[in-house]
Amino acid sequence: MTDKDKRLKSIRDRVLNLKESPLYEYRVANHYFPVIGEGNHDAKIVFIGEAPGKNEAETARPFCGAAGKVLDKLLATVGIDRKDVYVSNIVKDRPPDNRDPTPSEIELYSPFLIEQLEIIQPKVIATLGRFSMKFILEQLNVPEQTQSISILHGRLLSGKLSFGDVKVLALYHPAVALYNGNTYNTLEKDFQALKQFI
Ligand code: URA
Repeated sequence: MTDKDKRLKSIRDRVLNLKESPLYEYRVANHYFPVIGEGNHDAKIVFIGEAPGKNEAETARPFCGAAGKVLDKLLATVGIDRKDVYVSNIVKDRPPDNRDPTPSEIELYSPFLIEQLEIIQPKVIATLGRFSMKFILEQLNVPEQTQSISILHGRLLSGKLSFGDVKVLALYHPAVALYNGNTYNTLEKDFQALKQFI
């Protein structure tokens, strides 16, 4: 096990025991797993979604359900293999009924995401949906942080995290593309910006 593997495993162990989470009892009652993240620990590209859905909580794997199939299809359009990237979420446990994560859930789980980014040190963070976009842009404290995803999607923004310079690509959430073909087309165009990081 490399040092990175050990540090990422330590995050998993801590989230597993996160009894203070408002989502902990729901996880245990439903025999769900927390979903920490999956992929290449040296990835240049890290994708960040919102929170696990039912399929994800049952398998402990991020984006393994319907939205994940859209993500895989989009990755294929730019010739990126899922095993070369890292995929994670801000909130690591499934919120009941797939509701939006609450500000206090984001506050509780986001330090784990920051730790993951500090370990992996990607060149680009691709946010999936408005929650992860807002969170990451606030972390970077960039002037664009107050703008909406409809303005920022597909634009590569520059910022700094503790480990150095990083780019952010805001993307619509792939789940939206399941019922909106225009969003799928927009996502396909926006994914082109990732080609330079392969
Ligand atoms: N939606 C997300 O935001 N994350 C997942 O892991 C699955 C669906």
